[in-house]
Amino acid sequence: MCGIFGYINYLVEKDRKFIVDTLLNGLSRLEYRGYDSAGMAVDGNKKNEVFAFKEVGKVAKLKELIEQSATDMTKTFESHAGISHTRWATHGTPPPSELPPSPNSTDSILIHSSDPLWEFSVVHNGIITNYKELKALLETKGFRFETETDTECIAKLAKYLYDQHPDIEFTVLAKAVIKELEGAFGLLMKSVHYPHEVIAARKGSPLVIGVKTSKKMKVDFVDVEYSEDGVLSAEQASQNVAAKKSATSLLAPPDKSLLHRSQSRAFLSDDGIPQPAEFFLSSDPSAIVEHTKKVLYLEDDDIAHIHEGQLNIHRLTKDDGTSNVRAIQTIELELQEIMKGKFDHFMQKEIFEQPESVVNTMRGRLDVANKRVTLGGLRQYISTIRRCRRIIFIACGTSYHSCMAVRGIFEELTEIPIAVELASDFLDRQAPVFRDDTCVFVSQSGETADSLMALRYCLERGALTVGVVNVVGSSISLLTHCGVHINAGPEIGVASTKAYTSQFVAMVMFALSLSEDRASKQKRREEIMEGLGQISEQFKQILKLNDPIKDLCAKFFKNQKSLLLLGRGAQFPTALEGALKIKEISYLHCEAVMSGELKHGVLALVDENLPIIMILTRDSLFTKSLNAYQQVIARGGRPIVICNHDDPEFSSALTEKIDVPKTVDCLQGLLNVIPLQLISYWLAVGEGLNVDFPRNLAKSVTVE
Ligand code: UD1
Ligand code: M6R
Repeated sequence: MCGIFGYINYLVEKDRKFIVDTLLNGLSRLEYRGYDSAGMAVDGNKKNEVFAFKEVGKVAKLKELIEQSATDMTKTFESHAGISHTRWATHGTPPPSELPPSPNSTDSILIHSSDPLWEFSVVHNGIITNYKELKALLETKGFRFETETDTECIAKLAKYLYDQHPDIEFTVLAKAVIKELEGAFGLLMKSVHYPHEVIAARKGSPLVIGVKTSKKMKVDFVDVEYSEDGVLSAEQASQNVAAKKSATSLLAPPDKSLLHRSQSRAFLSDDGIPQPAEFFLSSDPSAIVEHTKKVLYLEDDDIAHIHEGQLNIHRLTKDDGTSNVRAIQTIELELQEIMKGKFDHFMQKEIFEQPESVVNTMRGRLDVANKRVTLGGLRQYISTIRRCRRIIFIACGTSYHSCMAVRGIFEELTEIPIAVELASDFLDRQAPVFRDDTCVFVSQSGETADSLMALRYCLERGALTVGVVNVVGSSISLLTHCGVHINAGPEIGVASTKAYTSQFVAMVMFALSLSEDRASKQKRREEIMEGLGQISEQFKQILKLNDPIKDLCAKFFKNQKSLLLLGRGAQFPTALEGALKIKEISYLHCEAVMSGELKHGVLALVDENLPIIMILTRDSLFTKSLNAYQQVIARGGRPIVICNHDDPEFSSALTEKIDVPKTVDCLQGLLNVIPLQLISYWLAVGEGLNVDFPRNLAKSVTVE
C-alpha cells in the first residue's frame, strides 16, 4: 500500500543533490500507491551519520522540507545508499503519531529508525501482523516505541540483534530479523554499521531492482543462495551469544569466498573485481525505467543484499522449490507511456487511451478475418478448464465488476456453472473450493492483498488457478498456473478505467476460446468476434462526447448530494462500475440499482430533484428496462438516458440523453461504461478534486 524506492551508487561519484533528486523523483512516480506521508534516509556528512527527512502529505511537501533544511547539497559521495518511502497509513494515522525525535528533522516520520541515532533505517510496504508481539518482546528488552506503526519494530529488532552481535554480517542479521516477521512486506533497510549497503526483502509485496552498469554485464542472471542451516530466532539470538561462533549457525560469519564466487557473476569484471554500478530499488518498474531497462524481479522470501557494486540474493530455506537464479530482464516500458503527455490527469489519459489499449489486449490473439482466438497463456490449459466443475471468478472493486460483466457470456458460451466472488467475502466465508474447480483471479495490479490471499487459499485446495492481470511479473501473474496478461499498459490513475475495458475484452476472448469446440455456438462466437473487431472505432466515437458530457455534468450534477444509476442484466455491472467511479473520485454518493429492484424500495427516493442516470441500450431486456424508465417518469423523475443512436423511444427533445453506438449485446457494457467514466472525471474536475489521487485511497491495495 506504499511505494518504496532506493538508490545505491558504487564507484560512481554523485553529489547529494543528485541522490536526493533521484529518490524524490522515484517517490513521485510511486505516489499513486499512497500519499499520506513521505520520507527518506541518506548518508550524513560524517561517517556513521544518517540524515532523515520526513513529511506528512505528498512528495512535493517532502521536497520543500529538504530545500528548507539547509543541508549541504554539494557534498559528493563515491559510494552511497539512500532509501525512501511514500506511505499510505495502515497503522497509526500519519500526523501526529509519527513524530518521534530524529536527528535532522522535526517532522512526521515514515522511515523508521532503531533509535534516536538512526543506527538502522527501514522503509516498508505492507503489514507486519505480529508487530504487537515483537513490540512486547522488545519492550521487555528496554526498547521504547515512539510510533504506532508496525515498521518501527523491524528497525528496533535489527538494532537489538546487532547489539547482541556487533560483528555480525548484514545479511545474517537481516535473515534473523526477517525470519521473525509475519504478514506481507516489501522492505529496504540501511544502517550506519554497514555503510553503502542495503538489504531489500519481499514477502507478498512487489520489489524490483534496476541495475545500471557502464560495461555489459557478464551474465544476465543472479544466483540465489540458500541457507544450509536454520536461522536463529530473535530470542535465540539474544540468549545464545556463543551461537555466533558456531560454524553451523547462520549467525556465524558466512564463507565469503563462496558467496562472492557464486553470487555476483553478473557484476564482476574478468579479473573478479567489482565494477562501478548503480542500483534502483522500487515497488514498481515504472519508477526505474527512466534510469535503466535492466531489471530483476525479486520473488517472495528473497533477501537481496547490495554492497560494493554487487547484488546477492539469499533465501532462508534450501530447496524450497523456487528457481535458483533470478533473471535480469530488459523491460519494454517506455517513459512516455507513464507520462501524462497532453492530458491534465493520468485518469483522463487512460480513458482516452482505450481505443488503443483494447487493441493491445487483442493483438496477436484475435483474428477477426479468420474468426480465431488464441490466448497463448491458456493454450495448454483450455481442455482442462473445459472439463472443470465450475469457474469461480474472484476479484475486488473494478476488477470484480468486469467479472460480473462477463458472467452472462461465460454461462451462455461454456454452459459451465459460473460464480463471481468478492475476494474478501470469499475468504471471510472460507467458501468451499475443490480440485476440479477453476478459479480465475482478475486484477489490474496483480498485487491486491485480498485477491492474492484468495489465490493462495485456492492453490492450497488444489484448484486450477488462472490470472487475468495487467502487470507482468506481479504476484498474481507469477503464482497462478496460467493466465492472460491484458496488455493495457501502465495504469497510474487510482480510478481504474482502461484496465476495466481490457479485462472485459480479455475475458470475452477467454470465453470464446473455451467454446471453440461447440458447433452450436459458432454463429454467436463469430458475431462476438466481429463486434470485438469494431470496438476500438466505437470507443473513438464515444470519446467525441467528451465536451457535451462535461457540460452535462455542470448542468445537472453540480452541488448534488446523491445520484442513482440504473441498469439491468448485463448493464447492472456497468451501473455498479459507473457508481464506483463517481464515488471514488468525485466523492458524490452514487448508488447503482438493478432496474428490476426499483419498485421493491428504491423508488421511494425518486422525485423531480434526484439526479438519475438510466442505461437503456437495446438488448433482450429492453422492454423490462423501459418499465423502470416509465416508473421513474411517472414519479416526476427526469432521468438522463444512455441509449443507442437514434433510438425512436427517446426521440423527444425533452429527453436528456447520451447516444452510444450499438454493438453485440454482451459487448454493449464496454461502450456504455465510457460515458460514465467521463462523467466521474468531469464531476471531480468540476469540484476541483485531485482526480489521480483521491483521498484515503491508493492504487494498489496490498493490505487486507
Ligand atoms: C507472450 C508474451 C508476449 C509475446 C507473445 C508471443 C510475455 C509476458 N508475453 O504473450 O510478449 O508477444 O507471447 O507469442 O512474455 N500467466 C500466468 N498468470 C497470469 C498471466 C499470465 O500464469 O495472470 C502466464 C501465461 O500462462 C503465460 C505467460 O504468463 O505462460 C505469458 O502470458 P501472456 O502474456 O498472456 O501470454 P501471450 O499472450 O502468449
Ligand atoms: O489491482 P486490482 O484490479 O486488483 O484492484 C482492485 C481494486 O482495488 C480496484 O479495482 C479499485 O476498486 C479501483 N481503484 C477502482 O477504480
